[in-house]
Formats: sequence, structure tokens, C-alpha cells
Amino acid sequence: MSEIFELFAAAIPGTERALHDELRELGFSSVRLNRGGIPFRGPLEDGWRACLESRISTRIQAMMLRFPAPDQDALYDGVRKVDWTPYISHKTTISVSSVCNASSINHSGFAALKTKDAIVDQIRAKGGRRPSVAKDDPDVRVFLYILKDRAAVYLDMSGDALHRRGYRVQTGEAPLKETLASAMLRLSGWDRKTPLIDPMCGSGTIAIEAAQWAANIAPGLARERFGFERWANFGKEEEQLMRELRGKLRSSVMGQVPRIVAGDIDADVLEIAKKNARSARVKLAFKHRALEDMQVSDHYTTIVTNPPYDARMDADLEYCRGITTAFSRLHGWRVALLAGSPDYEKTMSIEPALKIRIPNGDIKCDFLVYDVE
Ligand SMILES: C[S@@+](CC[C@H](N)C(=O)[O-])C[C@H]1O[C@@H](n2cnc3c(N)ncnc32)[C@H](O)[C@@H]1O
Repeated sequence: MSEIFELFAAAIPGTERALHDELRELGFSSVRLNRGGIPFRGPLEDGWRACLESRISTRIQAMMLRFPAPDQDALYDGVRKVDWTPYISHKTTISVSSVCNASSINHSGFAALKTKDAIVDQIRAKGGRRPSVAKDDPDVRVFLYILKDRAAVYLDMSGDALHRRGYRVQTGEAPLKETLASAMLRLSGWDRKTPLIDPMCGSGTIAIEAAQWAANIAPGLARERFGFERWANFGKEEEQLMRELRGKLRSSVMGQVPRIVAGDIDADVLEIAKKNARSARVKLAFKHRALEDMQVSDHYTTIVTNPPYDARMDADLEYCRGITTAFSRLHGWRVALLAGSPDYEKTMSIEPALKIRIPNGDIKCDFLVYDVE
């Protein structure tokens, strides 16, 4: 039987609940709600599947070992206790990053260096030659966390961050990360069956993620490869298993999706959204129009959107009031927005049914959900 690992799905702060629900729905075991990310348990193949199937996680890691690390020798010895040879050979390039908190070892650069030394020394002792360190695009990434003198070493499974789906050909101004767009969709309560609109779609991220989710297109299918596919032990047999897994996911794609509309006032950015949607193999309806001109149909619809948020985008109080006034006319609709300016909440005439602080990169945002009466 395969060894069972503690796996960790990293999350954008504020999106943990959505990620927790997603991982449970995907059938992973021992999924626990936690801050910063969601731990679960399973063989490494579950980590492969999480990389392919999670729309919300930013990165999947496998825990290698936890141990007391009150000083540098204990850190070095602890890291050497892990057998790194299944993952790293002398031909592999590696990188180590670390975070230290409330511990005697309080310099993260130094902790990373010690960890790297311990790994490199082990590989050299076993085979005579040592792996090299690469800052850019390493084959294997190792993460070390030290909290209150206790270390935890994780092996990254994702490689490039998971928001890099591989379908985006071009971006507009201020594109959302795909993982954040997917978290917003789940948190909005959208049922994947009723129509959905992003009337300020920019490069189309929210609408594309919505269409992929509704059609059950696994977000990792367009990715060329993940970090674990570059591990030393990833051979012909594993390649075959991965091909089978991808094949299974491809065969569970559904043809029928609800109407998903991507609109924007800017015709040029809409062309970018069209290109991205084609590349992501999803069908959207595109509308070149201002949000304020939106027609309210009788059909219940959900809006999930990310309006302009700062002066650079001319989003002052009056602008925000214009947008929220347009939202208030959509009686019976659900409106979910990632508000990078407090003026959206301030000018909305009703209280949000849900409000979660979620950063969008370094911009403080509130994710607000309204049921417009
Ligand atoms: C922050 S960007 C959205 C980025 C998008 N989520 C993405 O991932 O690329 C905001 C978008 O709103 C559009 N916009 C601004 N005012 C608008 C209005 N009144 N009606 C429709 N679209 C508008 C802008 O052209 C811009 O593309």
C-alpha cells in the first residue's frame, strides 16, 4: 500500500472555507479547516489529483517531517533524517525557502541555507555528486517552517503556482488570479446551473473559471507539467498513471453549461477575454456594454465581479455610487463583488449577506455578497 502523507493545500487568506469545501467535494480524506491552507491526508497520488483538480488552492505540498529545531545542528540533523533520494538526485536543481516565527532560529535565509546543506550533503554522501541550487524554475522546491522551535519540512508538489492554468494568453489591466476568481465563485453560492454574469470581466478570468467549473473541466488539464513530475522517482510508470488520470478527467467533462456572460465597457479588453476563453476551450457570451446599461431579465442571475478599485482606474466615490446604483436595480439577483475600495459597501443601499476580507495581491479587499431585494 502507498505511504500516507500529510498533504497541505495552501490558500489565499479568506478563501480557506471555500477550499475546504472544494477538497471535501473532490473526495479527499481527513480534510480540516485551518488558517492559511487546508491539511488533508493521503498517498502522494492524492497530491497529484489535488494539483489537477483544485481550482482554489495556490499550491499543494507534502509534509516530510516535523521535529524540534532549537538550534542549527538540530535543524541540520532533522532535515537529514528525511530520505530525499526518491525526490532529488544529483541531476535535480533545488530551491529552499523558509519562514521562521517565535523561534531561536530567527533568520529565515540562514535556516534555508542549513536545510539546503543537509539535503545536498545527503545526496552527495549517497552518490558522490551533489544537486545544484536554482533560483529560477528549480526542479524541486522545499519549504521549511519553524514555529516556536519546531520545524516542519514540506516538499512542493505544484511547481509553478496553481493559478497558472496554462490557458491565459493575454491579460488586461489588473487581472485576478484564477484561484481567487474560483474562490469568489464558490463563496458567492452560485449553483453552476443558473446564468452567471461578470459585467466588468477584463481579461475574462471569472467567467472562464465559472464555465470550466460548470463544465467540470479540471483546472490542471491545460498545464504542461507539475512539480512532482520533475521528481527523481517520476519515471515511465508514473507518467503512465498520470496520463490515465488526465484521461479520466477529460472524459468527465460535461458539454452542457448554463449561459455565462462576460461584459466590459472596453472593447479591446473584451477581445483579450475572447482569446483567453478560446484558449480555455469554454463558450461564453460576450457583451460590449457599460454595466449601467445592463438589461434586467426576469431570469434569476448571479453576478460575480471585480470592479475597478482605485484612483488609477478612476474609481472614486461617485464612480462607485454609479456602479452600486446599477446593482441595486437588479431585483431578485445575487451580486458578489471583490471590492478593493470601501466606497462600494458605503454606497450600496443594503447590507451584505456575506463579507470576507480577502487580499487581492497587496490590495486589501472585501468580498461582498448581496441579495438584491
Ligand atoms: C479590475 S478590472 C477586472 C479584471 C478582471 N477580473 C480580470 O481578471 O481581468 C475592471 C474592469 O471593469 C471594466 N469597467 C470599468 N467601468 C465599467 C463599466 N461602467 N461597465 C462595464 N465595465 C467597466 C474595465 O474596463 C476593466 O476591464
